[in-house]
Amino acid sequence: PDADGVKRYRLRLRQGHSELLPGKSARTWGINGDYLGPTLRARRGDRVAMAVHNTLDEDSTLHWHGMRLPAVMDGGPHQMIRSGATWVPQWTVDQPAATTWYHPHPHGRTAPHVYRGLAGMFLVDDDAAVALPHAYGIDDIPVIIQDKKFTDNGELDEDFGGTYGLLGNQILINGTYGPVFSVTTTRVRFRLLNGSNAHVYTIGFADNRTFHVVASDGGLLGRPAPVRRLRISPGERFEIVAEFAPGEKVLLKSFAGDSDIESGDYDLLKLVTAGKLSPSPALPETLADVAGPVTGAKVRTFRLGGSQINGRKMDIARIDEVVPAGAHEIWVIDNITFAHSFHIHEVAFRVLDIDGRNPPEHLRGPKDTVFVPGKTKVRLAVEFGRHIDPMTPYMYHCHILKHEDRGMMGQFVLV
Ligand code: C2O
Ligand code: CU
Ligand code: CU
Repeated sequence: PDADGVKRYRLRLRQGHSELLPGKSARTWGINGDYLGPTLRARRGDRVAMAVHNTLDEDSTLHWHGMRLPAVMDGGPHQMIRSGATWVPQWTVDQPAATTWYHPHPHGRTAPHVYRGLAGMFLVDDDAAVALPHAYGIDDIPVIIQDKKFTDNGELDEDFGGTYGLLGNQILINGTYGPVFSVTTTRVRFRLLNGSNAHVYTIGFADNRTFHVVASDGGLLGRPAPVRRLRISPGERFEIVAEFAPGEKVLLKSFAGDSDIESGDYDLLKLVTAGKLSPSPALPETLADVAGPVTGAKVRTFRLGGSQINGRKMDIARIDEVVPAGAHEIWVIDNITFAHSFHIHEVAFRVLDIDGRNPPEHLRGPKDTVFVPGKTKVRLAVEFGRHIDPMTPYMYHCHILKHEDRGMMGQFVLV
């Protein structure tokens, strides 16, 4: 922080070149660097001030996905940053510790902007004393999962055709091809972010070992949830903790699914453990006091069909929903066609049920994005923020970027 207690960040959206495939240079976009952006970090209570300078020759935005903040600071399609201009949002971080992220949100152009490399993580810390691995880069590791398609000369192939848009056949982790991580501790926390345009991954270890999900989009779960496989759709984050023995070679993978939107079988991250590992604290039995959802709340239904919500496409001049600030509501996401990933800005929600069934344990924590398989109904208990602004809307939309760009998005205001 500066002398006035404000944490200042300078971010430049820029064009660059990166070696995404070994030995080949691709034209990419990045934030401060050539591809992706820095991991930002702030504590609950911090005042943060951004200067986002757009040096691209296209207008764009920068959205703080998962941040609870006033709508004018949100970086959605109403906060365009013209080519050559600088945008200076400021807010006070006021939410539990979580893995959030940032990416552009220009209306109709989000898919190419994210795909070319504009995205990064923004970690929120708080004062809750939870014994989880937290040494960034040592036992607390960001894992941004993105799929790509390349042309023969190694450039990004922008093939956004088909029902879901870009479905790549190469996976990059944090922009790196064929990554290897050296494990030096008995437990490692991985912050998984699906930053892909469309693909859904089913994550697990090649040897099928059990690992624990400790947090979802909006922060810690009530207690660690043991799993062997973990599905993550575009925009979602999960924090997991895995356990290691000395001298192991372990592979983090995505396992092939059986629908078009699920990825094939891919190696994500090779893990090589040292001959001697520093002991990590035992996994806590409880993590957070996750209050049960409020019941008896107002219900709104959102019917997802094709690329429309309730039979309409996004109209930037139309407010679709007016929500009282601080409200608790039930949002029913009724998907009558193919798979989507439903995201709501600004809120924290809990998944109440999926086609009437209780969600698995790892989906019972705070979230802002949820996978909605084809022909499935998901009910969410949504807790809205308190930043009243009847003039500036927040978005809700499908996070499959082609769907978002085609108008599978709506707008709500807090009053
Ligand atoms: Cu991750 Cu409306 O966005
Ligand atoms: Cu968002
Ligand atoms: Cu969709």
